[in-house]
Amino acid sequence: MVRTTVTVIKADVGSVAGHHRPHQKMIDYAKRKLAEAEETGLLKSFYVYSIGDDIGLVMTHHRGEGDSEIHKLAWDTFKEITEKIAKPLKLYGAGQDLLKESFSGNVRGMGPGVAELEFEERASDPIVVFAADKTEPGAWNLPLYKIFADPFNTAGLVIDPKLHEGFIFEIVNIREGTKVKLKAPEELYDILGLLGTPGTYCVSKVYRASDGEPAAAASISRLSLLAGRYVGKDEPVLIVRAQSGFPAIGEILAPFAIPYLVAGWMRGSHNGPLMPVSFRKHSAISFFDGPPRVIAMGWQIADGKLVGVDGVEPADLFDDPFWDYSRQLASQIAIYMRTMGEFMPARLEPSELEYTTLPQILKRLEKKFELIK
Ligand code: 13P
Ligand code: 13P
Ligand code: MG
Repeated sequence: MVRTTVTVIKADVGSVAGHHRPHQKMIDYAKRKLAEAEETGLLKSFYVYSIGDDIGLVMTHHRGEGDSEIHKLAWDTFKEITEKIAKPLKLYGAGQDLLKESFSGNVRGMGPGVAELEFEERASDPIVVFAADKTEPGAWNLPLYKIFADPFNTAGLVIDPKLHEGFIFEIVNIREGTKVKLKAPEELYDILGLLGTPGTYCVSKVYRASDGEPAAAASISRLSLLAGRYVGKDEPVLIVRAQSGFPAIGEILAPFAIPYLVAGWMRGSHNGPLMPVSFRKHSAISFFDGPPRVIAMGWQIADGKLVGVDGVEPADLFDDPFWDYSRQLASQIAIYMRTMGEFMPARLEPSELEYTTLPQILKRLEKKFELIK
């Protein structure tokens, strides 16, 4: 059986009206570039999306995870968009996420975020790709826990024999570059002990315990840790397989109903509610550069290709009046959090601000401090 790989590579290489949204020419350029790669046979299919000021390339192929040609295609696309469009138009943050000058085989560690999942196609293979703006990879910890470990969220964990044996979480310490595999439900409390610190521990992969089948993959890069300075937020992506032995689409979306707090938002320095939005209807990022938001794109995978509702156009999974309630709630939480101004926990704690501008301000005060006698 042929194995298919879904690769999502994304970057913020400049935007219009501050950190708001990319220029249409940038999206069109990416589409043309990937269409050429589809013609040569490198890609089986592709879709270009944007969320906030980020551009994401969803690519399917048969070359496996970490393939240098696929990664180079994405790198070149973002580099060319920067040079040919973002810089001449003086877009805001042109080339922001491209931290290195030249490509060296893999985009990991170079700025762009990447999530990849290789699997053998089932008779029918639904997937969801989530993409967020104004937040960081740890934003997926809570929903991934609920989807794959919480029976109050995922009925299949109780009802479906294939899910009943649980899931294995691969968790990365992004500050130290180490990883560990822990199994739910047996090691639930250890999993929670780590995932509750999303600035340090992030889920990179999830596997079905009964047969080791890959179930989910997330991007885990933190730009500030890579760059050693503030360069904007990471805007993570997440791929999840659904149905027939995996959580149902409805179980995968359910954790986003009550907007939970994530780090990011204005200047990457605040906790704000993650608001689920339609990518067709809600493109504006407007309140205090946010609030942080997430889109959900649904496809079938067939013979290595993305199948959407019209060609490769994905199902817009948060475009349902149900989510108006969540968006209202997110607005209320966002306004409430803003009443606290620059007081923690509305503002992030100092270790999370290490690479932003506040420490520079406070450094000036150092010599004014005197010892208490
Ligand atoms: P499946 O086993 O077909 O995924 O059944 C679950 C379902 O469809 C509920 O949405
Ligand atoms: P981005 O991380 O989306 O570029 O936004 C940066 C920022 O500082 C928003 O206030
Ligand atoms: Mg962004």
